[in-house]
Amino acid sequence: MVYRLIVRPFLRFLDSERTHGVSIKIGAGLASTMVGQKMLGSLYGTPSLPTEAFGMSFRHPVGLAAGMDKKCEALSLWPSVGFAWTEGGGVTYHAQDGNPKPRMFRSDSDNALINRMGFNNPGAVSIRKTLITTMESGGWPTTPLAVNVGCSKVAMGDARPSKDYIATMQQLWDLADMFVINVSSPNTAGLRELAEPDILDTLLREINEFKISQKDKKPILYKISPDESNDAIRLMVEIAIRNGIDGFVAVNTTVSRPKPTSTRSRRAFSEIGGLSGRPLHPRSLEVIRNVYNQVGSEYPIVGVGGIDSAESAWDAITNGATLLQIYSALVFSGPAVVKRIIRGLQKKMKQSGIENIQDAVGIHSNT
Ligand SMILES: Cc1cc2nc3c(=O)[nH]c(=O)nc-3n(C[C@H](O)[C@H](O)[C@H](O)COP(=O)(O)O)c2cc1C
Repeated sequence: MVYRLIVRPFLRFLDSERTHGVSIKIGAGLASTMVGQKMLGSLYGTPSLPTEAFGMSFRHPVGLAAGMDKKCEALSLWPSVGFAWTEGGGVTYHAQDGNPKPRMFRSDSDNALINRMGFNNPGAVSIRKTLITTMESGGWPTTPLAVNVGCSKVAMGDARPSKDYIATMQQLWDLADMFVINVSSPNTAGLRELAEPDILDTLLREINEFKISQKDKKPILYKISPDESNDAIRLMVEIAIRNGIDGFVAVNTTVSRPKPTSTRSRRAFSEIGGLSGRPLHPRSLEVIRNVYNQVGSEYPIVGVGGIDSAESAWDAITNGATLLQIYSALVFSGPAVVKRIIRGLQKKMKQSGIENIQDAVGIHSNT
């Protein structure tokens, strides 16, 4: 309510990327004080809907998707506004500016975003420092933290791109609870080529050798592009499992475009970049369902793409997602969307006679 009536109209006057930066700074500032925490908790506190995945407990399934907190600078904010877990990043080993601005566009009538950020982030060494400062200042979240790992632009085309991924994980291994391997962002030239079968096989094998060599065991997930064919995704999933991947994130943004419903959408959709938000949901569901039917419950799936209501969240879960993430819905509806989703899921479970949210995973995957 507060967000929709006051904060969102104000932020609309700023361009999309500044809006983003300003919102995170305001939120992080608030969440760093006791009073702010209390206020955010009373506005956005979510009921619990416990679930388990990757050997960890989650208060409920909904987490923050990668790309919102690229610098991992607001880790105490996300649990305060209702998220049960956070994916920080994408982080690359080398600091990089990303693509020239403007590089983020919105279509309010289609509830969609187009972005071509290009892994703008301060690099793994700097992010390690930020995380350590957060820990030392007592602002470490009580909820699980995943880190999204991308490939540095300067390492694209290297004979062994795994070295760049591993260098980032080495920096952050003791701090994060799990890692997401990202070869699926459409905004770094050549990145998606790393998902070609032979290259992917070597990349994931070398990453797995690194994982096995670590004293602390941490899950590593693989994030899927919605733009690959179903057959290609099937093969990727096979390769990933053969190389020790623990689960999947479905899906990243898409380079395809739906039919725009307004002139502003037409303009936004004509921009180069990845589309997220509501129009991505049908393809996201399809990928979740296919992967679930391929791997079953042994390899948990994080469902992401256009989740913005209890209905879309329920569809993702019943088609095979154990955990969920949102990005675009946070931009269009504000943080209260998390609470609405969890309350709605509780209702759906009641209607279906399901007591534990985990029992709903995949129940519609064959229909
Ligand atoms: C501005 C922006 C930046 C993103 N950055 C990343 C990223 O660094 N790594 C990644 O794997 N996904 C990134 N994503 C994709 C999201 O994590 C998510 O997969 C996608 O937005 C679909 O979810 P949604 O429809 O809820 O937004 C980004 C998305 C947006 C909109």
